[in-house]
Amino acid sequence: MILSPSIIASDVAHLADQAQEALEAGAEWLHVDVMDGHFVPNITIGPLVVRALKPLAEQAGARLDVHLMIEQPDRYVRNFVDAGADVVTVHVEACTHLHRTIQQIKELGAMAGVALNPATPTASLLEILPDIDLVLLMSVNPGFSGQSFIPSSLDKIRRLRSQLNQIASRAHLEVDGGVGAGNVLQVVGAGADVIVAGSAVFGRERPIGESVRAILDALVLEA
Ligand code: DX5
Ligand code: ZN
Repeated sequence: MILSPSIIASDVAHLADQAQEALEAGAEWLHVDVMDGHFVPNITIGPLVVRALKPLAEQAGARLDVHLMIEQPDRYVRNFVDAGADVVTVHVEACTHLHRTIQQIKELGAMAGVALNPATPTASLLEILPDIDLVLLMSVNPGFSGQSFIPSSLDKIRRLRSQLNQIASRAHLEVDGGVGAGNVLQVVGAGADVIVAGSAVFGRERPIGESVRAILDALVLEA
């Protein structure tokens, strides 16, 4: 299981130190939530932050997992890959020509991901599933960290995992929103292999390293 802490939940004034702490404790990716104030009711960060984090990520052997919650994402795919994104995930709801966008991401050398909002059926991926490297299932409505996990997401994860297995896909199944030490076992048990965690990692209740280890241990202790 890959843990991908969502950096918008961090104390952004100390982003590099906090990202470093999460990676040192065992996180393998860094989840970069890009929001444009149109596709979602929030505005966050852009390629500048990906570029700033790249040396630190490379040093740690970590991937930059960029989640584009923006309209017409194909306008910016190249900017994010040039800035150092290893994974570029676009929303199916925001893409008029998803097949072309996925080809563009792959031609630029990044892993191509497609994200689904909670109400978007997995059937919308049917034609594109064989071409993608990652599916991101939103288990909250996108726009903000700190929200509660939508319980029906577990069944959606199970259904998607079975669809991926049916075509022997090697794509990652990433789950994003409201995941922490208390429910990560259920989420991974349903079929996720990449977990995004924002407030569960960067919440101010305890040190970041402890929070990362609590999530990773939750899987080991049960195994
Ligand atoms: C929400 C983002 C998520 C969010 C995760 O739109 O895509 O990545 O920041 O934060 P938590 O884990 O706190 O829900
Ligand atoms: Zn995200």
